[in-house]
Amino acid sequence: MPLHTQVDESHKDAEIDVNPIYFRELSCEIPRYRLAPSGVLPRTALQVVRDELILDGNARLNLATFVTTWMEPEAEQLMAETAAKNMIDKDEYPQTAELERRCVNILSSLWNAPAGSAATGCSTTGSSEACMLGGMALLWRWRARRQATGLDAGKPNLVMGSNVQVCWEKFCRYWQVEPRYVPMVPGRLHLRGAEAAAKCDENTIGVVAIMGSTMDGSYEPVLEISQALDQLQAKQGWDVPVHVDGASGGFIAPFLHPDLEWDFRVPRVASINTSGHKYGLVYPGVGWILWRTPDALPTDLIFKVNYLGGEMPTFALNFSRPGAQVAAQYYNFIRLGHSGYRHVQQTCQDIALHLSAEIAKMGPFELLTEGRDLPVFAFKLRDDITSYSVFDLSERLRMRGWQVPAYTFPDDMTDTAVMRIVIRNGFSMDLANLLLDDFRLHLQVLEHHPQTQPPPEIQKKRQSFTH
Ligand SMILES: Cc1ncc(COP(=O)(O)O)c(C=O)c1O
Repeated sequence: MPLHTQVDESHKDAEIDVNPIYFRELSCEIPRYRLAPSGVLPRTALQVVRDELILDGNARLNLATFVTTWMEPEAEQLMAETAAKNMIDKDEYPQTAELERRCVNILSSLWNAPAGSAATGCSTTGSSEACMLGGMALLWRWRARRQATGLDAGKPNLVMGSNVQVCWEKFCRYWQVEPRYVPMVPGRLHLRGAEAAAKCDENTIGVVAIMGSTMDGSYEPVLEISQALDQLQAKQGWDVPVHVDGASGGFIAPFLHPDLEWDFRVPRVASINTSGHKYGLVYPGVGWILWRTPDALPTDLIFKVNYLGGEMPTFALNFSRPGAQVAAQYYNFIRLGHSGYRHVQQTCQDIALHLSAEIAKMGPFELLTEGRDLPVFAFKLRDDITSYSVFDLSERLRMRGWQVPAYTFPDDMTDTAVMRIVIRNGFSMDLANLLLDDFRLHLQVLEHHPQTQPPPEIQKKRQSFTH
């Protein structure tokens, strides 16, 4: 979360402006940065907060986020009814714990955990926490192996593409693991097997493979990466496990690409995470992580909490966490079933493919991906187009509320600026066609009115999009 600093109230509007209709109900003014001496009526408070939020973007027009922005009314009702449940209170809310157990089991079969492997997992606040737990398990296992044989365990490293989501950089910094990034290069926008293996050594705790990349929606080839690590083991003896970051793809590949081997069918895959609040179709925040076998999860990472007169093992960074999202995840599983999830994801993909094909036809763009893996695609302006940028187009699209991010790629490709569109349930083919109309309109304007460079502060802001 952003870190906030104390505000010098002498420089700011100290009081919140309240609609005059509510004037009579106010017992005092409402300070902006301090607690008022007394409260106001619920409807006044509701109006004040609603008024504050009207400047937020329209979530349905947000093509930047991977996170769920629409659930059906019954699901919203269930979430409101379960808002008071705390996931950690297993003893007080044993049925919420039971729903979590069922969700873990459903995911283990969706991800092809071998029968009898006792795949083990839990819910989390999202993929970031899940990745943190996955990384910790890799680190603890590597350290235990090194210490057991009297080897130095002071210089762990983790191998991944430079296209990883920021949570992996965080993991490395917080746990003092050296991040070994394989750079993106033109023509190879994500990690491949040979490049991953070349970065590994005896201190590598694992390789992260992403399904799919936040940058362009493409899947990393988990099987190829794994086979390259098999060869490395045969040559050097280093047994490097793979963690699959399936933040989005964990809920797409089982439905749209059932024959693709990316999950526990690949023996080297030790653990997989996903975000229930992305293509799991639940509002934020819920994530999931599963380990192939219980021994992939070192016991000294596990804490016990009370449960039905006994103890339940838990692994989490947080203690308290809302239970409503877990109830909603289970709701989605029974509401949609396999065919329902497939239908939702296929519809998203059809829309992504339609949009990317039409955008390619417009002329100024080159597609980097089409949306065939995740229903997500990235595109850039042709190199000869210099009179306007993707940032200019992104800003113009905002005029009608469309949020289509433009950003530059990471190190080694920072001069490549792209736009990315994420299609999620709730964004219809009709909306897609309206977006295409606006694309055409704004391109016409931009072609006739070359853009000037904005001041450096704004340019810096334009490039710093980090989804
Ligand atoms: C590949 C990948 N990993 C991890 C994350 C972090 O997920 P969360 O927002 O659920 O913490 C994201 C978010 O976009 C992602 O795309």
